[in-house]
Amino acid sequence: MAQSNIRPASGKLGILTVGLGAVSTTFITGVLMARKGLAKPVGSMTQTDRIRVSREGRTERLAYGDIVPLTPLSDIVFGAWDAYPANALQSALFAEVLKREDIMPVKDELEQIRPMTAAFDRDYARRIDGSNVKPGLTRWQMVEALREDIRNFRQENNLERVVVAWAASTEIYVERDPAVHDTPEALEAAMKADDRVRIAPSMCYAWAALLEGCPFIMGAPNTTVDIPAMWTMAERMRVPIAGKDFKTGQTLVKSGFAPILRTRCLGLDGWFSTNILGNRDGLVLDEPANFHTKEVSKLSTLETILDGEENPELYGDYFHKVRINYYPPRGDAKESWDNIDIFGWMGYKMQVKINFLCRDSILAAPVLLDLCLLSDLAQRAGRWGIQRFLSFFLKAPMHDYLSGEQPVNDLYQQYAMLKNALREMGGYDADQPLD
Ligand SMILES: NC(=O)c1ccc[n+]([C@@H]2O[C@H](COP(=O)([O-])OP(=O)(O)OC[C@H]3O[C@@H](n4cnc5c(N)ncnc54)[C@H](O)[C@@H]3O)[C@@H](O)[C@H]2O)c1
Repeated sequence: MAQSNIRPASGKLGILTVGLGAVSTTFITGVLMARKGLAKPVGSMTQTDRIRVSREGRTERLAYGDIVPLTPLSDIVFGAWDAYPANALQSALFAEVLKREDIMPVKDELEQIRPMTAAFDRDYARRIDGSNVKPGLTRWQMVEALREDIRNFRQENNLERVVVAWAASTEIYVERDPAVHDTPEALEAAMKADDRVRIAPSMCYAWAALLEGCPFIMGAPNTTVDIPAMWTMAERMRVPIAGKDFKTGQTLVKSGFAPILRTRCLGLDGWFSTNILGNRDGLVLDEPANFHTKEVSKLSTLETILDGEENPELYGDYFHKVRINYYPPRGDAKESWDNIDIFGWMGYKMQVKINFLCRDSILAAPVLLDLCLLSDLAQRAGRWGIQRFLSFFLKAPMHDYLSGEQPVNDLYQQYAMLKNALREMGGYDADQPLD
């Protein structure tokens, strides 16, 4: 490993997931199985990717853990909150993502992971009706209770560091209100005034994490940390934040395919994306107010890749529509269809059809692992606030929209950003400019 100023990954790392549903239990089970040598962490960049690094004229290809000090899987301790009381074993079996034979070898560890009571408000996820909730708390009391949960978790497990990751249901859409969401003082005042319309429960989790010095990751499209008050607090507390929304099935394909059109200067008339899924996530998203949050995040992907202002002839007037349909028979085995109407030489029209039979949580689990390990790394490397190098893993990457910054959605540019950040943190040359 080259010279770097990163604090070592000594001691145990706690990962607290908000939500112990399909994604979280698939992630936890996979890590527990991998560390017993019973499964392979396929799809995880931190565990399998190797990148080219150069220093003082010498070039080699190294795994992430050989470039920067990453927490080994064996040093992770898991905890969670959920509105349902099921432990991680029960929840993994309920989710029906993994086969019993891939769960039972780590049954004992999973049984030990019992969710702490949730800071929950049914107005934010009407389709969830669990009993494992903190009763009758104001928003500020939620923050205080969650802070205590984090402290207890840290102490009971003798943890060096803790990362908090939201893998809970998508909340209803909360629009940014500058009067409440733009400064830490205003946000805290609204929490203390128990403003239940503009303060989502997820904001209480994020605030508690920041105040406890824990990196926070937003795996759903919720507004939560995507507001200036959170950015400022994250900088103030020297904590990395990342979001929003794990980039998994259809959006992964979209951010990988759209660059083909742009790179070859092919035009776009329309992009229709639809999918069916039948897990609990699909049930929550069947509620229009919750779907709207997802829709906003899914629609944003194309705008910066196929930029109508930069190239009005090709991308000035395309129709982009996204649909999610709850269809119980499919469970977690989502199927998505993309119909892309494009045009080429002399305006001649063509079509591309993509039919992806994916497994949502199988794609999300490695993304969650990488986000947790890399946020922990970022904190030890002294990188605070919005972590743009993690855009690779996210559907609607956070960016400073107040200053007019544009997010990077192109998968390959995002990969270059990720690799350059690792090179820089590891003390190697940053050799892939973005253009
Ligand atoms: N699977 C993917 O590919 C993917 C991709 C992008 C984003 N996501 C997002 O990840 C999240 C989790 O997905 P999932 O499939 O695991 O869903 P899931 O329904 O299986 O699990 C979510 C869990 O969150 C719990 N929950 C809801 N509100 C809570 C709160 N306030 N506090 C604590 N727990 C709470 C629910 O009780 C539920 O058990 C969703 O928001 C989903 O949109 C998933």
